[in-house]
Amino acid sequence: MNEIVMKTNIEQAEEVLAQTYARFPVVFTKGSGCKLWDSEGKEYLDFVAGIAVCNLGHAHPAVAEAISQQAKNLIHVSNLFYTVPQIKLAKWLTDNSFADRAFFCNSGAEANEAAIKLARKYFFDKGNNNKNTIISAKQSFHGRTYASMSATGQDKIKKGFEPMLPGFKMVPFNDIEALKENLDSTVCAVMLEPIQGEGGVCCPSEDYLKQVKQLCVENDILLIFDEVQTGIARTGKLFAYEHFDVKPDIMTLAKALANGLPVGAMLTTDKIAKAFGHGAHATTFGGTPLVASAALSVLEYIESNDLVNQCDNVGNYFKEQLISLKEKYSFIKEVRGYGLLLGMPMSIKGAPIVNKCLEKGFVINCIQDTILRFIPPLIIQKEEIDKLINCLDEIFKEIT
Ligand SMILES: Cc1ncc(COP(=O)(O)O)c(C=O)c1O
Repeated sequence: MNEIVMKTNIEQAEEVLAQTYARFPVVFTKGSGCKLWDSEGKEYLDFVAGIAVCNLGHAHPAVAEAISQQAKNLIHVSNLFYTVPQIKLAKWLTDNSFADRAFFCNSGAEANEAAIKLARKYFFDKGNNNKNTIISAKQSFHGRTYASMSATGQDKIKKGFEPMLPGFKMVPFNDIEALKENLDSTVCAVMLEPIQGEGGVCCPSEDYLKQVKQLCVENDILLIFDEVQTGIARTGKLFAYEHFDVKPDIMTLAKALANGLPVGAMLTTDKIAKAFGHGAHATTFGGTPLVASAALSVLEYIESNDLVNQCDNVGNYFKEQLISLKEKYSFIKEVRGYGLLLGMPMSIKGAPIVNKCLEKGFVINCIQDTILRFIPPLIIQKEEIDKLINCLDEIFKEIT
């Protein structure tokens, strides 16, 4: 009976959903902490967390309570008015980052759109209309809307959608000389993920981001950090820029901010925020009381349970275990990343490994064909990590 129900769901999905995702043949119906259950009642351990979204795990009581209380009170009134959860959320984020002001939207791509618009408007307002080029990095990922896609450094994302927007240039990540060569008086912003997520969990060399910041300061260029994937404690710091001791001028957030409710944020300094005056930018749903309450519950939980350090500790343990696998299997090229954003590039395809893990009840992810990415909820325990490591060991034994 259950099987029939599941098949019907998947068959129906294939008829009615846009085919933008090659989905795995699983219908998830329930989650709790790091566990998921499918429509047949099979249990899984989740090492994807909705792609770095559910940092507190599934069905977290604090988040569920915040959402249900707020839903009974006030869901939406429009940004024509003030609402208390939005004010509190902006206060929390600005108190805990470099920023003075927050603009709320609904996704990572939208937060990046806001960042790109703000950078251009900032120089326009200074009378510098020609300073509008955005430099981003090859292999980067900033989203699927036109501006965020134009800033994205991966051809496969753009194919068939050309022409891209004008005013975007790309340089190799981690190559300060290439950036220097491409700076001219038209450049208004350098936009980077401090650690490239979708591009392969690519980490900057020790001084790269500092050198980028210095170039930006010297040339009156804004530095935008896209922390959509790296933000909200994922890397063992609240924001990844803290690892590198470099403050951006603008930062974008989304994904984990409300543990699964759609929210994006663009944070910046007072000085730069002035370029977004009344009517300059807007979105109907940005920072509704509902999502803001959920986000606040996430941030307060992270703070009161020291999840930043927990992520750092467990992340180090996870990395050590992955490194011990690397020592055993020569097809594993490297283990890299910070906190619980870990990548394992291999000389073999990752898809069969992901499928085998799924069969055995483990949800993991592969990016760029050959890189396994591990981004579990930050509440993951060492014993749960051990279970995955054993499962990977078994699979690797079979294929070698
Ligand atoms: C670094 C980064 N920026 C932007 C985005 C786009 O976010 P969204 O899918 O919420 O538009 C993503 C999504 O994976 C991302 O990883």
